[in-house]
Amino acid sequence: MPTSVELAALDRARQIALAARGDTEPNPQVGCVLLRDDVVVGEGRHAEFGGPHAEIGALAAAGEQAAGSTAVVTLEPCSTTGKTGPCCRALLAAGVVRVVVGAIDPNPAHAGRGLTLLRGSGVEVEIVDDPGCLELVERFERALARKRPHVLAKWAMSRDGGIAGPGGETVRLSGPEAEARVHRWRRALDGILVGVQTIVADDPLLTARGELPALRPLHRIVLDPTLRTPRFARVVTTAHETPTWLCARDDADEARAAEFEEQGVRVLRAPAGESWLPDVLATLRLSAIQRVMVEGGARTLAAFLEAGLVDQVAVLLSRKTLGVDAVAAVAGRTLPGDDPQALASALALHDVRTEVLGEDMLLRGERSVTD
Ligand SMILES: NC(=O)c1ccc[n+]([C@@H]2O[C@H](COP(=O)([O-])OP(=O)(O)OC[C@H]3O[C@@H](n4cnc5c(N)ncnc54)[C@H](OP(=O)(O)O)[C@@H]3O)[C@@H](O)[C@H]2O)c1
Repeated sequence: MPTSVELAALDRARQIALAARGDTEPNPQVGCVLLRDDVVVGEGRHAEFGGPHAEIGALAAAGEQAAGSTAVVTLEPCSTTGKTGPCCRALLAAGVVRVVVGAIDPNPAHAGRGLTLLRGSGVEVEIVDDPGCLELVERFERALARKRPHVLAKWAMSRDGGIAGPGGETVRLSGPEAEARVHRWRRALDGILVGVQTIVADDPLLTARGELPALRPLHRIVLDPTLRTPRFARVVTTAHETPTWLCARDDADEARAAEFEEQGVRVLRAPAGESWLPDVLATLRLSAIQRVMVEGGARTLAAFLEAGLVDQVAVLLSRKTLGVDAVAAVAGRTLPGDDPQALASALALHDVRTEVLGEDMLLRGERSVTD
């Protein structure tokens, strides 16, 4: 039986975990509290996709005090995965003697394996089946069952709902703090996805250029049904340094595809038709792309939102205005850039959070997806 101190620690671990909501998906949020003689000696969370697991952070915080401690974790510790090595091994190496687990790993490839390994090494294991921890796991299970990557849609928007100037003119809407945040997100992704018109209009590099090193190999992904990406676009000329994938229709020109491939660009094809976008995403998932950020432009954002293929939204609300002839942020929609609450409801977001980032405001929220 878990003690009342352990149950309180589990509650705390769940709260620590939840603070990373929006940053770890499709992986679950996980929190860990280390107790020694009923006193907390270390805490950790899985803070971002591709980053170290919760147990590793808690062990680092506890240092030598981890020896003889109890680890209280929202999710069964992994036995085989993790950038910093399997968490079970790390717990054993640190001398943890008891592990209290909020929920079992729902992934059939891992379920119960960590606990068997710990028990086999003489560690006492307690499973709580805590409803709050099970809820975190259920979201993870749904993400696992989806045949597509986790999709975060992000864009910068003017006060009057624009994404680009009249005629698609490129405008720098966000300040340095907001841009730094975008680069931080990019380091914990498998892919940045844009529509081909954004490549034509802005010629962006789409790389992570923050101070912190990338956590995952980043792929630039362009929706380009007919392969009209300019051959000298920066995403093409730098494809040997950071992979670039063009997603085309199956009837796109073969010779043009071959030219791109010679330049080191990968061309993925999906049958033309209504399910082109879901098919592209399924292909990306099969190519190990688990988390992707859709960065525009307006037609691409509209296509994702209309198809119900967005899990999370992040909008950087600028104080600038672009005028009535600006390109609307989501094609075919008039969105209020000056009223975060109205914007959240227009986008059908729940669990909405706002944060001031220098001169901009960040609005984040979840979308209910049915697939
Ligand atoms: N403020 C911001 O955060 C931000 C971010 C990015 C871009 N932008 C701005 O947005 C503007 C570009 O937006 P945009 O709406 O014109 O273009 P876009 O969304 O970048 O690209 C649209 C094109 O992508 C392809 N595409 C996208 N979704 C598709 C789907 N579901 N099925 C088939 N093809 C699909 C189509 O290519 P085809 O036409 O070849 O069929 C489509 O015309 C630029 O001016 C850029 O500056 C702003």
